[in-house]
Amino acid sequence: MPQGERRCCGGFCALLVTAGLVVLIYWAIFQPHHIRATVDSAVLSNLTVSNSNASSAAAAAVSYDLTVSLRLYNPSVRVNIYYDAIDAELRFRDAVVGPAANDTSPSVFYQRRKTSEVVKMEFDYWRPGGGGGVTVGSDVARELVKETRSGGAVSLELDVDVRVRYVFRMFKLRLKPRIRCSLSIPVKTEGRHRGFGGVVASGDRCSVKY
Ligand SMILES: *[C@@H]1O[C@H](CO)[C@@H](O)[C@H](O)[C@H]1NC(C)=O
Ligand SMILES: *[C@@H]1O[C@H](CO)[C@@H](O)[C@H](O)[C@H]1NC(C)=O
Ligand SMILES: *[C@@H]1O[C@H](CO)[C@@H](O)[C@H](O)[C@H]1NC(C)=O
Repeated sequence: MPQGERRCCGGFCALLVTAGLVVLIYWAIFQPHHIRATVDSAVLSNLTVSNSNASSAAAAAVSYDLTVSLRLYNPSVRVNIYYDAIDAELRFRDAVVGPAANDTSPSVFYQRRKTSEVVKMEFDYWRPGGGGGVTVGSDVARELVKETRSGGAVSLELDVDVRVRYVFRMFKLRLKPRIRCSLSIPVKTEGRHRGFGGVVASGDRCSVKY
């Protein structure tokens, strides 16, 4: 084999091995350590649906107050995580019924390996004397009224988009996991003129996708 060809092949092999090693290290450090999310509790109160705008049959207002405690767990053995941003949104049948009112608490934090943190998020769409509700389509409003009156549970979806930095020594990795939690909250009326409310302490696992 000519000298040049051998050197070229050797260089290529070294590059392959290096690339393989980098991928392996990257995988060993980061991949197996997706965060875990569970719903600790959800408290719903003052849920009312009103067709506030009589001149428009196409819209209704949903008023409610929902506080969700979401537990985030870092299962990593070595990696700590910075949470840089948490955006929570609540959906009912694919209709957005509100972003979290005043962000989350805590809104940013640092999470050591093998620890969990409970993040509280409040969806505050209830005001004394009405108003402050979220406008939804009449079909969505009808479905919601049906679920509250069924004597069963209201099915909501909590969507949380998180911006995190995985930190291992000098390695840093920015990721944007998406957390989806199904909330099934049994509701009953809270009394005259007060709407519906209910509590779950589910501990249900949420889906986390990277
Ligand atoms: C629900 O409504 C009642 C009165 O109608 C009010 O006193 C209470 O503060 C409301 N709850 C929330 C969480 O807004
Ligand atoms: C009521 O609906 C009409 C027609 O859709 C709209 O022009 C008006 O702004 C609405 N009023 C309120 C208070 O939402
Ligand atoms: C929202 O803001 C109020 C007042 O600033 C605060 O007391 C409450 O804890 C906040 N809620 C959340 C979920 O951050």
